[in-house]
Amino acid sequence: MLDGRRYEVPSDLKTSAYITSSEYEKKYKESIENPDKFWNEQARNIEWIKPFTKVKNTSFEQGKIDIKWFEDGQLNISQNCLDRHLATKGDDIAIIWEGDSPSLSRQMTYKELHEQVCRFANVLKSQGIKKGDVVVIYMPMVPEAAVAMLACTRIGAIHSVIFGGFSPEAIAGRIIDSNAKLVITSDEGIRGGKIIPLKKNVDAALAKPEITTVEKVIVFERTGHHDAWHSERDIWWHEAVNAADPYCDYEVMDAESPLFILYTSGSTGKPKGVLHSTAGYLVYTTLTFKTVFNYQPKDIFWCTADVGWITGHSYLVYGPLSNGATIVMYEGIPSYPTPNRLSQIVDKYQVNILYTAPTAIRALMAQGDVVVENTHRNSLKLLGTVGEPINPQAWIWYHETIGNSRCPIVDTWWQTETGGFLITPLPGAHALKPGAAMKPFFGVQPALVDNEGNFIEGEGEGNLVIMDSWPSQARTLYGDHARFEEAYFATFKNTYFSGDAAKRDADGDIWITGRVDDVLNISGHRLGTAEVESALVAHPKIAEAAVIGVPHDIKGQAIYAYITLNAGEEADDALYLEVKNWVRNEIGAIATPDYIHATKGLPKTRSGKIMRRILRKIACDEADQLGDISTLADPSVVEKLISEYKCLL
Ligand code: WTA
Repeated sequence: MLDGRRYEVPSDLKTSAYITSSEYEKKYKESIENPDKFWNEQARNIEWIKPFTKVKNTSFEQGKIDIKWFEDGQLNISQNCLDRHLATKGDDIAIIWEGDSPSLSRQMTYKELHEQVCRFANVLKSQGIKKGDVVVIYMPMVPEAAVAMLACTRIGAIHSVIFGGFSPEAIAGRIIDSNAKLVITSDEGIRGGKIIPLKKNVDAALAKPEITTVEKVIVFERTGHHDAWHSERDIWWHEAVNAADPYCDYEVMDAESPLFILYTSGSTGKPKGVLHSTAGYLVYTTLTFKTVFNYQPKDIFWCTADVGWITGHSYLVYGPLSNGATIVMYEGIPSYPTPNRLSQIVDKYQVNILYTAPTAIRALMAQGDVVVENTHRNSLKLLGTVGEPINPQAWIWYHETIGNSRCPIVDTWWQTETGGFLITPLPGAHALKPGAAMKPFFGVQPALVDNEGNFIEGEGEGNLVIMDSWPSQARTLYGDHARFEEAYFATFKNTYFSGDAAKRDADGDIWITGRVDDVLNISGHRLGTAEVESALVAHPKIAEAAVIGVPHDIKGQAIYAYITLNAGEEADDALYLEVKNWVRNEIGAIATPDYIHATKGLPKTRSGKIMRRILRKIACDEADQLGDISTLADPSVVEKLISEYKCLL
């Protein structure tokens, strides 16, 4: 059986890793028994302008959710990621950028990055951006995306990065929710040879009359092509930066000052503006980056995530730069223009640590050995994965084919809301099991509960909750603390509910089994079924919609959308195409339904509730396991749906 395998800690790591097996046991115990002492020590890994005297002050109590860490300390994140390295690492490379086309690359030292950030921070200031203002970043994967983030943190502005794949509608919703004052974008982006019209999308979003707060748009020139130019509003990045002063002092920020907002999907319609704060986030991402990846000075670290996701925030930008690491930032996709592009980049920059997602691994695996052709990948020491459960077969392929059977794999479980890794192996401490996220990180107390909230001890499976706070936990949902409490702390009293289920095996190791709420995971990206449904029903011909996630070999899950049409409308290929394009325009390409199933009626209870359980079984080709359908108002719809499903395939 594939998932019965175990991979022991490589003998060199047994003694040389930052955290060895015995240290893990000792430190984990200490972190739980005396969190104040443990985190007080770890907080010394970053620089403080004013030291804190208080460590942890948190409450998970119903109605009183309040999370504060190091609350009376003061610091600046940009100073920690840049200025503090200048004396010893100023000439070291901070960012190696590899363009979509293999002929394009750039490098930036810490000194150069520092200067760019200072200049851009001055640009922001000259445009009236102040501490506490919200700035939207809608950029391709270019170093300037990191420059923009660090410039915001330098002056205390709150950034809200929006993934470049999102549509004008999605951008507009996020701008309205956060009252953003300024947008930073690029003329266009390029991924896999395809052009992404970023500026055009921003223009379309800002054309909406509901948006009243955005005053300026700063545009980075990537391709040299764009449509309209609004001279009273739009500013070229290069012109402004060249004219700006090369030094900008950093703001003194309180530990709990808001750092960034990142929108993510939940089980209800509107995306949630997850808010992270300053000190706890930095302490935690700094420590997890160093210990989980066992990052050694001079290692080259490549995280393939886009800056538009939390992984791009915590482990492409903040965690690595706080450690003075050298990062690879790649603009494109793993198999373009040739199937072995990812492996070529590993060889080209002698990458030591590669962090990517199961969906990318499965897509590579499906292409076979061409993806490693003419490459050796001998520089690799460690591999990582994130985003969804990794099937043991893909884990083993990643280990053997990409990692030449030499590199441990850290399967890191975490979320936008957790800020950093919560459950993950430590490469010097834990033997690995393909598909298992293994052990809690320091200070993290996971537990499994049944649907009534009873604890499941020992071997078993249940809802994954976390019993107490950790420093990089989200503090609230922007402008909506009640929703924060409701979404994470109301299901199981006095604990943080992740929305995931997990099982604990006989050794006490943890395996994440996936979401138990109405959140889909498409290629490692979160998407609420309610979000897709509300985009569907906004279409003038659609009356009702129900969206289900179905298993997909590469993407993990695919979107199966049931729709009913308004009277007089007919379902045909043209309508299906129209509906797919509609959803793409409303949310973005990742939300495009893979299957659309138009039908006359959805299965409902007598009180009118759609029975998703039945729809799920039909869409997953498990109609033989429907169970009891006698509570349906009209059980005959089920037969009809099943026969339509068979025609659809
Ligand atoms: C899933 C991404 C299994 C999980 C960092 C979680 C995982 C959601 C893993 C968060 C993993 C993430 N194993 N599942 N190693 N990592 N997930 O907010 O369902 O984009 O709740 O954060 O991804 O997605 P998010």
